[in-house]
Parts: sequence; structure tokens; C-alpha cells
Amino acid sequence: MELRPLCRLWLLYCWCCCGGGRGADPADTFTPTGPRSREQQAAAFRESLNRHRYLNSFFPSENSTAIYGINQFSYLFPAEFKATYLRSKTSRFPKYSAAVQMSISNVSLPLRFDWRDKQVVTQVRNQQTCGGCWAFSVVGVVESAYAIKGKPLEDLSVQQVIDCSYNNYGCNGGSTLNALNWLNKTQVKLVRDSEYPFKAQSGLCHYFSDTQSGFSIKGYSAHDFSDQEDEMAKALFTFGPLVGIVDAVSWQDYLGGIIQHHCSSGEANHAVIITGFDKTGSTPYWIVRNSWGSSWGVDGYAYVKMGGNICGIADFVSAVFV
Ligand SMILES: *[C@@H]1O[C@H](CO)[C@@H](O)[C@H](O)[C@H]1NC(C)=O
Ligand SMILES: *[C@@H]1O[C@H](CO)[C@@H](O)[C@H](O)[C@H]1NC(C)=O
Ligand SMILES: *[C@@H]1O[C@H](CO)[C@@H](O)[C@H](O)[C@H]1NC(C)=O
Repeated sequence: MELRPLCRLWLLYCWCCCGGGRGADPADTFTPTGPRSREQQAAAFRESLNRHRYLNSFFPSENSTAIYGINQFSYLFPAEFKATYLRSKTSRFPKYSAAVQMSISNVSLPLRFDWRDKQVVTQVRNQQTCGGCWAFSVVGVVESAYAIKGKPLEDLSVQQVIDCSYNNYGCNGGSTLNALNWLNKTQVKLVRDSEYPFKAQSGLCHYFSDTQSGFSIKGYSAHDFSDQEDEMAKALFTFGPLVGIVDAVSWQDYLGGIIQHHCSSGEANHAVIITGFDKTGSTPYWIVRNSWGSSWGVDGYAYVKMGGNICGIADFVSAVFV
């Protein structure tokens, strides 16, 4: 398989930070410290240029293939990038089964579908240097679930989840499943973003009175849809945008196009929201909302090839019900 040598290369790249992987104490993980010298930045930038050349050299004639180049992360070494931005932990997700299938309506899917077209997806947000992707993805899906139910579309508080979801590590990382479990178990009401704004660092949990209005969830589901991406598309169409956890190491350099390589499954480290899919072209793809601001990727989004579980996109998928 042609990707083998590449994976090995990536392993080398992130060798120094893999200690922070699954199950490790987040306090042990590498965090960039202090101001960085111009020399360090220049060295990281040079390394980025080499990496871009390498990533772009593989399948140049392929239709709509992803392109890699200079963006806001080019002054970071891959280890620094990973330590700051890729802080999602995974748990085991149950294999999507026929029993659960009954709850997904027997829909015939359109070739292209994106919840953004229904005006039920908020603007892309920016987690800055807070490793809170897990909270951004969960909150974004709750926002959409309410809007799909006919409520006004509004930004809800990510900071509340970062500060209050006690079974996670705030800006040092977390698990989407733990966050969903916390939301479901405590029936906590998420307040509006304006009432509990994002500070890009962990803080003490602010509690609101019972009479405070807010947005709680009725439940959630969690599935491993690997080898079943058509079913996953039905789930997206039926329930709304989905939480996903991907291997986003190569996303440091992503500029646009459809990600088809340079991504593994089984190395999940970053939580995102899948808002839609497009099968109209020769390469069908998922439409994936990120939390790195709208200047990253395609207006803050990435496209990931459907089928083949690219970046592990189908491995850890959740929907919420409100
Ligand atoms: C789904 O629809 C197809 C064709 O419309 C039908 O053949 C099939 O039996 C349906 N399955 C279920 C579970 O309703
Ligand atoms: C969510 O909470 C409800 C009510 O406590 C419970 O019945 C349900 O099993 C929970 N869902 C999940 C996925 O844990
Ligand atoms: C690229 O797209 C064209 C038109 O859709 C198609 O005919 C061709 O087979 C595709 N090539 C590859 C390598 O997928």
C-alpha cells in the first residue's frame, strides 16, 4: 500500500509528542512555553515549506486533491501544533448496528446536502490556543439541533462546557463523549455565548440559577460508522450535524481541496463537526467544520473524501437530540 512509507514519516514527525496520546495525563503533555525566538519560528517555517512540498508531491494529477501550504500554523513545529490544537481524547464507540439502524429513517439521500444551506449552522469559531476542540464540536452540534427544531440559531457558551464539564480537562483537552455524557446526565442548561463568553483558557465553573433560561439535551448517540459511511450520511441527514473525531496532524498545512491521503484512522486527536456531504463530483466528500477560525482551510471548513474512513472520520461519531 502506497501510504505506508508516508505514515512512517508522520510517525517520525510526531514521535516526540505521542506521549500525550490516548489515556495519558494531559499535564504530562508537551505545551509550548514562553515566547519563541525568531530563530525557532524561522526554523519551523522552513520545515513547513519542506513538508508542504512533500505533501503536495504525492498525487498532483488527482482530481480535487487537497493542497497544502502556508497558513497561520506554518510557524509552528508539528509537535507544537499537535500539543496545542489536537487535544481530543477518544473512547471506544459502539459499532453502528442493525438494532440502532431502526431509528434512522429509511431516507433516500440527495447527492449533495449541507446543513449550512438550511441556516442552522453558526459561524465558524476560533479556539485560539485553547485545546477545547471537544467542547466546540459538542456545543456547535447542540446549536444546530435547536435551530433544526425551529429555535433561533444562536452561539451557545463553549466556555461553560470548558469550565464546568468536570470529567474533562478544559483547554488541556477532553473527550466529546464525556462532554455529551455530562450534558445528558446533569441536564445542565447551556447559556448563550454572550452570557458566558469564550476566554481561551480554563476557568472556574460559573453556575446559573435554575430559573436561568438555557439549552439542555434530551440524549445523544455514539457510533462507529467505519465501513458504513452511507449509513453515517443518513444519520447526518436525519439528526443534524454530527460530532466526529479525526486524525488532524496533516491539517496543520491544509489549504483546500479534498483530503484523500496523509491522514490515518486510529490516531484520532481532533474533534470537529460534520455538516454535510457532496457526491456530485468524481470524488464524494464530507463537509467538515473546524474551530480554527474562518481563515483556515475553505472558510474554516475542510473537505474529507467519503468512503475509506479517511482521517478516521467515521470512527467516533455522535449525534445529539434536543
Ligand atoms: C427502505 O426502502 C426500500 C425502498 O424504498 C425498501 O425496499 C426497504 O424495505 C425499506 N427498508 C425499511 C427498513 O423500511
Ligand atoms: C441520557 O439520559 C437519559 C435520561 O437520564 C437516559 O435515559 C439515557 O440513557 C442517556 N443517554 C445516553 C446515551 O447515555
Ligand atoms: C477526474 O474527473 C474526471 C471527470 O469527472 C473523470 O473522468 C476522471 O476519471 C477523474 N480522474 C481521476 C484520476 O479520478
